[in-house]
Amino acid sequence: MPKHPVIAIDGPAGSGKSTAARLLARKLGYTHVDTGALYRTVTWLAIERGVDLADERALAAVVPAIHVRFEPSADGQRVFSGPRDISREIRTPELTRQVRFAAVSPLVRKALVPVQREFAERGPCVMEGRDIGTVIFPDAQVKFYLDAPLRVRAERRWKELVAAGKSATLEEVEREEAARDESDLKRATAPLRKADDAIVVDTGRFDIDGMVEHLARLTGERLKGGGA
Ligand code: CDP
Repeated sequence: MPKHPVIAIDGPAGSGKSTAARLLARKLGYTHVDTGALYRTVTWLAIERGVDLADERALAAVVPAIHVRFEPSADGQRVFSGPRDISREIRTPELTRQVRFAAVSPLVRKALVPVQREFAERGPCVMEGRDIGTVIFPDAQVKFYLDAPLRVRAERRWKELVAAGKSATLEEVEREEAARDESDLKRATAPLRKADDAIVVDTGRFDIDGMVEHLARLTGERLKGGGA
C-alpha cells in the first residue's frame, strides 16, 4: 500500500479524467497529479534541447531534468518545469501529436515510475493517467477507470480547443483522439487497460458536479471498507 492514500484515475483521452481528478482532489484536500503532463514535459524539453524524439535513449535521458511541479489555479492547474511555467506549451495540438514517442518508450516509462511514486510519498493524491492503477500503484487504495464513447470525448476536446481560440473541426479532433486511443491501447509497455479492481465510470452519464459527487462517495466507501 502507498504510504498515503492514492486515488488512481485511468482512462482514454477526453474521458473527463483531468476535470474529475482536479475537482475530486480539491474536494478531498489531496494533491492532483496529472501524469500526462510528465510525458508532455519530457516531450517539450526534448524539443527545446533539439533531441530527436525517435532516439529513445536520448529522450529517456531528458527525464531527470524535467523537475515538474503543479500549482492549483483558477483555470485548472499550472505546470512548471523548474522555474518555467509551461502549462500552455505542453498542450498545443502539435505537442499532443508528438507525445506518443515518450508514451510508447519503455525507457521513458521506466524512468518516470519513481518520479510518479515520489508524489505519493509527500501526501495523499489523486493521480490520473493511463497506467496508474495497473503499473504505478497496483495497490492504490481506490481505483477508477473513466470512459465515455469516442464521439462524446472528441466533442469535449473540440470544445476546449475552440474555447482556447484554436481552429479545428470535430471530425479532425475525433480522428486524432481515435489515433491516440489506438496507440495507448496497443503499445507493448503499460498499455491503457482497466485494472481488475478498478471501478468503471461512464462519464457521459454525469454532469461535472454529479460526477465528482459520485467519485467522492465511492472513494469514501472504499477508504472506509479498506480501513485506510
Ligand atoms: O489530457 P489527455 O487525455 O489528452 O492527455 P494526457 O493525459 O495529457 O496524456 C498525454 C499522453 O501521454 C497520452 O496520449 C498518453 O499516450 C500518454 N500517457 C501515458 O502513456 N501514461 C500516462 N500515465 C499518462 C499519459
